[in-house]
Amino acid sequence: MRLHTLGSICLLATLALGHKAISPGLAKRNADLSGRCASGVAQFNKRRYERRSTASLEPRSANSTFQIVTEAPYYDVLQNDTCVLVPDVTAGPYYWPRSETLRQDMTEDQPGVPLILDVGVIDMATCEPLPNALVAFWHCNATGSYASFTGRDPNTPFVQLLEQLNITDFEIGKTDLHTDDTTFLRGMWPTNDEGILEMKTVFPGFYVERTIHIHTQVFTDWVLHTNGTVKTGETNSIGQLYFNEDVSGQLMALEPYVGHTEINRTTNDVDTIYSQGFENGYNPVIDIVPLDGKDVRNGVIGYITMGIDTENIAPLSSGGM
Ligand SMILES: *[C@@H]1O[C@H](CO)[C@@H](O)[C@H](O)[C@H]1NC(C)=O
Ligand SMILES: *[C@@H]1O[C@H](CO)[C@@H](O)[C@H](O)[C@H]1NC(C)=O
Ligand SMILES: *[C@@H]1O[C@H](CO)[C@@H](O)[C@H](O)[C@H]1NC(C)=O
Ligand SMILES: *[C@@H]1O[C@H](CO)[C@@H](O)[C@H](O)[C@H]1NC(C)=O
Ligand SMILES: *[C@@H]1O[C@H](CO)[C@@H](O)[C@H](O)[C@H]1NC(C)=O
Ligand SMILES: *[C@@H]1O[C@H](CO)[C@@H](O)[C@H](O)[C@H]1NC(C)=O
Repeated sequence: MRLHTLGSICLLATLALGHKAISPGLAKRNADLSGRCASGVAQFNKRRYERRSTASLEPRSANSTFQIVTEAPYYDVLQNDTCVLVPDVTAGPYYWPRSETLRQDMTEDQPGVPLILDVGVIDMATCEPLPNALVAFWHCNATGSYASFTGRDPNTPFVQLLEQLNITDFEIGKTDLHTDDTTFLRGMWPTNDEGILEMKTVFPGFYVERTIHIHTQVFTDWVLHTNGTVKTGETNSIGQLYFNEDVSGQLMALEPYVGHTEINRTTNDVDTIYSQGFENGYNPVIDIVPLDGKDVRNGVIGYITMGIDTENIAPLSSGGM
């Protein structure tokens, strides 16, 4: 048993990093693109910032008793580095496109702090906003469970879970671990003419061995059929988005997150997939602004700009969580 456990740890490292370590060539390409588009991203973010602060927005709170302070600037200093080149980051074992519904509110009945994602997509080939890109999101609920996998214990290390299931040939996108057809906290929506979309959800909780994150996948090649089904092309960009520890710490102290005591939360500094983002020259941390202009515990807006390398789109990655 002891030996088994040691073996498991090694396998986990392989799963998490393994053959998916990004090549030095690709890392350099990403860093170069990121640098080249810094000015384009800065301008894009400035327009979004101005749009928010000129109050052309309808009341947008989950809880209508909160008023949005639209006059106040959301950023003290304009951010120009929130550029994610969604490259070869793992899709994770809870990748399940079948449960991703086309909608702008993927909360369903899940409790938690309201989170409105304001997402900009940039075409790294031109450094211009990318309209009509379909962006999918999926993340765990306040106590670590993923929709469609609610029968899986979020507190059991993944390698142990596979052992329990006698699975030795796990492959993301191939091995079927789903337990049901629930769809909470999974959704997708296209960017508008300005390359922006909004998705409403709740702040994620955490599960074993991972820091708090949201998975995202961007399709530039997709069609909406008249019967409501979405068909996506083979190519896509994939990534994971994170939060700074200060915000996470404040929110995890609230119900219902604080009730998740079976495991200790893994933080950004020790999460291996998190550090890959920075090594690869992009910043996958969502900028958080309080929804009521005052207190993040009342709800938050999260800004992120994702850069898509449209000239070098990778196939779906595997491994890791
Ligand atoms: C981005 O921000 C950094 C730090 O504030 C600044 O040095 C740099 O010039 C900015 N780049 C652009 C393109 O605005
Ligand atoms: C909205 O916020 C008020 C004030 O904090 C609180 O009393 C109320 O329960 C909240 N309603 C919902 C639906 O969260
Ligand atoms: C998260 O989902 C699981 C599985 O459906 C459920 O048992 C749990 O109560 C949910 N967490 C919260 C805080 O509602
Ligand atoms: C896994 O294999 C063990 C030993 O052969 C068996 O006892 C157990 O029921 C199997 N578990 C599953 C989920 O198939
Ligand atoms: C929806 O329409 C597409 C294109 O006609 C078809 O391929 C697909 O099977 C349909 N899906 C359902 C659920 O009817
Ligand atoms: C969490 O960490 C603390 C301090 O290291 C430790 O005492 C405690 O047993 C841990 N709890 C769990 C559930 O692992």
